[in-house]
Amino acid sequence: MPSSDSDHIIELSVIVPTFNEHPNVVPMIESLEAALGDHKWEVIFVDDDSPDGTATEIREFAKRDSRVRCIHRIGRRGLSSAAIEGILASSAPFCAVMDGDLQHDEKLLAEMLETIKSENLDIVSGSRYVEGGSLGNWDQSRATISRLATKLSRTVLHADLTDPMSGFFMIRRSTFEKRMRNLSGIGFKILLDIFASAKEPLRYRELPYKFRTRQAGESKLDSQAAWEYFMLLLDKLIGHIVPVRFVTFTLVGGFGVIVHMLIVWMMLNRMEMDFTVAQATATLVAMTSNYAMNNVLTYRDMRLTGWRWFKGWLSFTLACSVGALGNIGIAAYIFAQDTTWVLASLSGIIVGAVWNYAVTSVYTWNKPKAA
Ligand code: GDD
Ligand code: MN
Repeated sequence: MPSSDSDHIIELSVIVPTFNEHPNVVPMIESLEAALGDHKWEVIFVDDDSPDGTATEIREFAKRDSRVRCIHRIGRRGLSSAAIEGILASSAPFCAVMDGDLQHDEKLLAEMLETIKSENLDIVSGSRYVEGGSLGNWDQSRATISRLATKLSRTVLHADLTDPMSGFFMIRRSTFEKRMRNLSGIGFKILLDIFASAKEPLRYRELPYKFRTRQAGESKLDSQAAWEYFMLLLDKLIGHIVPVRFVTFTLVGGFGVIVHMLIVWMMLNRMEMDFTVAQATATLVAMTSNYAMNNVLTYRDMRLTGWRWFKGWLSFTLACSVGALGNIGIAAYIFAQDTTWVLASLSGIIVGAVWNYAVTSVYTWNKPKAA
């Protein structure tokens, strides 16, 4: 092995998930350089095809600096899954995950590295709630929501972390590798995911930091982040029994039945229309609303947009039509065996739902994209 190789061996990979962080890229790399100057480090950005050209900006820098890399994901979204894939792309013994908007204090990284090594820990995380840390200038409502989410996390967490919501931490590679197959990779909360996936307790320490104010770009945390958080908790609680996507798919389906009934009722009673017309209209509207809701709730990380939304709608409608036929066929067959109508009807619904879920998960949302 050439002796110069040891100069290039990286001790710390900093993983930075980005979405529309173009103005923050260069300041981010410069701040890492200032904070980690003497260490053997690299930064791996994981960008979800940001429309503002974040990935191009990163690659421009990478041309001049081999410590900078970019994983460019297409047709995907999600902070947690980006962090996981960033860690998987690194071979350093230690990986840090931090935001790409300068809100996390990069000066803590050297201390994290020192602590994780000297105390032989699995994880060192940044906390806003231990002595010396702070939320920065968060408004009251966001602070309350964050505290509430922290309380809820106790249902799945096997540790007494003060700030499991933190997206700023360092992990030992060997620890990550032990649990990477159990991670949910849903939503924003990767640290919580890691802790909740641990079979045996993790050796960890929290270090205080002050959450800084965002200077450029916008937060991506919207109302749907709450939904994703709920999905993460649900996956941790029952994911080993039934896929959480199937649960939300079924919830959406149940809502679709209500939509269907309302439309039929309205068209029959208020508009005095023919039953067949009412039934057909309701079916189409309910299928479309089910599709739209699943696209944002069940498959938010693979959400279809633009032209692909219509193609998705077509395959969803087709799949569910076949599902409906199967539903009726099975129900009729079971009913003919002299069982009660409830049992026959329910069997049809279950078979239809499983079919719809299975087929649309492959043909509508999971389609391998053409290059
Ligand atoms: N690749 C990728 N894909 N990155 C994303 C996505 C996505 O879908 N959504 C957000 N990011 C990136 C942002 O570009 C930013 O670098 C980082 O993830 C955090 O996103 P923000 O939108 O700035 O989140 P925040 O400031 O509201 O929340 C932060 O604070 C929380 C503390 O409660 C995050 O760090 C959370 O992880 C942290 O828990
Ligand atoms: Mn932020």
